[in-house]
This record gives sequence, structure tokens and C-alpha cells, in this order.
Amino acid sequence: MLLQNVTMAPPDPILGLTEAFNNDANPDKINLSVGVFKDADGRTPILPSVKEAERRLLETESSKGYKPIPGTAEYQQAVQRLLFGADNELIGSGKAATCHTPGGTGGLRVVGDFLKNNEPNATVWLSDPTWANHNAIFEAAGVPTKVYPYFDRQTNALDFDAISEAIDAIPAGDVILLHGCCHNPTGVDPTPEQWKTIGKHLAAKEVIPLLDFAYQGFANGIRDDAAGMRALLAQCPEVLICSSFSKNFGLYCERTGAFTVVTESTDITANVFSQVKACIRRNYSNPPAHGGAVVSTILDDDELREQWEKELATMRERINTMRQRFVDALNAKDVQLSTAGNDFIVQQRGMFSFSRLTREQVDTLREKFAVYIVGSGRINVAGMTETNIPRIVDAIAGVMT
Ligand code: LMR
Repeated sequence: MLLQNVTMAPPDPILGLTEAFNNDANPDKINLSVGVFKDADGRTPILPSVKEAERRLLETESSKGYKPIPGTAEYQQAVQRLLFGADNELIGSGKAATCHTPGGTGGLRVVGDFLKNNEPNATVWLSDPTWANHNAIFEAAGVPTKVYPYFDRQTNALDFDAISEAIDAIPAGDVILLHGCCHNPTGVDPTPEQWKTIGKHLAAKEVIPLLDFAYQGFANGIRDDAAGMRALLAQCPEVLICSSFSKNFGLYCERTGAFTVVTESTDITANVFSQVKACIRRNYSNPPAHGGAVVSTILDDDELREQWEKELATMRERINTMRQRFVDALNAKDVQLSTAGNDFIVQQRGMFSFSRLTREQVDTLREKFAVYIVGSGRINVAGMTETNIPRIVDAIAGVMT
């Protein structure tokens, strides 16, 4: 028997919790683990702009033929306009090239394969902490990773001095993964000024930034949230960007993402892009079409794009309201998540609240109260509702005493 020595893999630190949640018989269970937006009724809606785009596609689509390896030109251009702004000189310059990937995860794996094949000496540096899947993606591609400091656990804020110092010690030619906005899991981002300094350090040290941009529009808005990316582009000759449209278009199951490479020369970009296409061909061959067609249909139509931006703002505002309600409810029960109180939760951006609950408390929350959050203490605020907040806070109070 060939397979008899295969052992059981551990459950995925995020999606494994949803599996456990689905198997939990407790009728009062609450899933605040995976980063999925829920509305006031606890449902994950299809955005009306997405429904409208799908209606149009149903009428106009005439073939299910393969898409090109890097996806359609319409999608590639739409992604670049969203990232850089429609009038940015990079668009049409040949210095930026985009491919359509199956989600942001697929894009990161393409980067991993590309680095393994073309930059075999490069290490990818990950923030401490970071998204629970980052390390595994690069490990699977055979790319070494190391960790740089990011979050100050005493102050619940960015440890900017430590980041700058760490960047200065990264060898030239390595890659640093930065979160474009709404850092996952901490919700703590550099300010626009700090981004400029980061860009300056990276350019001076010839370290390549890889931006994981999965939450564009969830902090302040499409343009504001790209301030970090613009600061890097202004200073660094080479920037790699992985986009995800799972959250901002609510296209989770359509696996819709992109990888964009920007260099200072059309020749370098063309060479890199040819290698990226070779990696894709060996992996998933060409992208799934539907989510990309939805995104480009929306972004290519002024009215639909405006509608989508309003829908995105509504999601953002709901999360911010829940964030405040959560803190109010903690305060009302006199539950303090840090020695300095709970205000740090309100300052975090995006879907998550980095609660500072310990691994043990997280386990008790799940086992005793059927409240599911990620092991790092990350809580999906976007899964909170007026109805479930009191139970969540009661459960947190229960694990803190
Ligand atoms: C998350 O962090 O919860 C999301 O990005 C979903 C995932 O794939 O982990």
C-alpha cells in the first residue's frame, strides 16, 4: 500500500474553524473566525451591483471557451485602473502587467512559484503577526520565509521603529510582504507618512515590496486605501501587488484576484510577465472566468461602479458601527481587553478586531460558549450583529474571569 504512511494534516487555522463550527450542534453558536462580511441579519449578501453585472453577463455571454493564461485584457485594465487610478501614467505604459488569479491566495502562490523559479535566493519576510496562511503558501512553493516585527504588544500599535530597523537589516534582493491596508490580523496600518519612510528604506536597501491588497475600500475608501501602494510606487523601482476581490466585491466563492507587477522598464516587466504566465500554465492553466467578468463589467460602467462604491461604503460603515457597539458593550460590562481599556479596538481598521485574547481564552470561548474566533485572538467584527453582540461580550467576560 502506497498511501498507508500518510498522516492526518492539522485543520486549517482559519477555514478549519468554520468546518468545526458547521459540525457544532449548539444552536447559539457564533462564527467570528473567517473574514466574511455579514449584514445586519447575519447573512453574506450578493451585492446588488454584482447581481446586475451577472444579469448582463447572462444575456451577453456566448461562450465558455478558455480565457488567456493571464485573463482578459478588460479585466487586467480594470484591475490597474482600480489600483492606480484611471489617469495614472502606469496604465498603458507597459511597465505594469496584471494577471487574473484565483483569489488573492492564488495570486500569492503565483508569486511564490515565480520567486522559486526566477529568484531562488530570495527570502520572503512576513510581519509578526500576519495572515495565518502566508507562511504556508510560500513554504508550499519552496520559498523561505522570515519574520519582521510589526505590532507592539505593549501599546497595541504599530512598532514603526522596529519595522524601519528590521528593513535596514534585510538583504538586498529579498522580498517583504506588506499588507496594503487593514492589516490582517491586527487592523493596524502605517500612516501615509510612515508608508513614505518605509518606501524610502526599501528603495535604499533594494528590498522588493510585495503588497497583499485584500481589503481595498474597507478602511477609508478605494483611493485613500491605496496611499501605501502609491508611496511604494513613488520610491521603489519594483513592486509586486496581489489583489483580492473576495471582500470588496463580496465574490468570495468566485475566487477572483489578481497579481500585478510594476517595474521601471517595459522589457523587465515583459520578461517577468512571461515567466509568471509559465508558472500559471503549470499550476491552474488559466483563470476561472466568472468573477473577473463581474468585476470588469462593474468597473467598466460608470453607473455600476458608482453603485458598487456606495455598496462598499455601506459595508465599511456597518463594520465601523459594529466595532463601536462592541467596544460600548465591553465597556458597559466593565470588560477590559487591555490595561489601557478597549479604545484600541476602535482604532483598528478593516474587518478584524485583534482582541488580545490569549490562545487559551480563544479555546474556552469556542469550547464553553460556542463563539468561534481565530487562535491569534482575531475577531471578525463584520460577523457581529446587534443581536449577537451581547452574547459575544458575555462569553468574553466569561473567559476573562
Ligand atoms: C481570512 O483571513 O479570514 C480570509 O482572508 C479568508 C481566508 O482565506 O483565510
